[in-house]
Amino acid sequence: MGTDKDSRSNMFTNNDNKSQHVIRGCTIEDLEGVIDVNERELPEDYPYFFYKSILDNFPESFLVATNSHGRIVGYVMWRVERIPAKDSLRLLSKGHLVSIAVSTASRRKGIASDLLTNSMPAIEKGNIMEFVLEVRVSNYGAVDLYKTFGFEIESIKKKYYRDGENAYFMIKKVEGIE
Ligand code: ACO
Ligand code: ZN
Repeated sequence: MGTDKDSRSNMFTNNDNKSQHVIRGCTIEDLEGVIDVNERELPEDYPYFFYKSILDNFPESFLVATNSHGRIVGYVMWRVERIPAKDSLRLLSKGHLVSIAVSTASRRKGIASDLLTNSMPAIEKGNIMEFVLEVRVSNYGAVDLYKTFGFEIESIKKKYYRDGENAYFMIKKVEGIE
């Protein structure tokens, strides 16, 4: 699957009054900027090869947002996970939101919403039953964002984070799938 710049640039443009950002597919050259945003905005950091493997395996749902100077101000990455069903030997596929973040100065302009809107159809093509994610119970803003996208709190994962904080496990069923 190609991740070259030409075919993946300027996928979606948002030029409304609220902000001037572009949402496009992440490229290998973008990873540095993605890691930069992640390290500034989230305590959960990952090694370079982790981002690289998500980009290699799930490029269609790995998107970045750039500002009017072309600087990366946000990203979203997903992966498809196949896990055994509770009641059978079947494998179920889930679209797992690995990470999303927007730079502090660029928040509340709809960038995370645009990242989700444009990445979810791509990960849905992996024949998933549901979208899933974990989020810190104290992260009210993110929980609100996910609720506006139809996610619901399914359960609490105790001490999910390294500092001991609990996570909400949130899911959104894919329509038309039982
Ligand atoms: N407080 C309350 N509601 C919020 C907040 C907030 N801080 N942020 C977003 N929302 C809700 C609102 O309903 C908002 O609509 P509104 O602005 O019209 O009221 C709606 O979500 C859409 O917000 P966006 O502008 O699209 O979100 P933004 O671009 O600001 O990014 C994000 C939201 C990603 C949570 C950002 O605050 C961020 O990067 N935070 C730090 C990183 C983080 O927490 N990431 C999520 C971790 S969990 C995971 O990655 C699976
Ligand atoms: Zn997770």
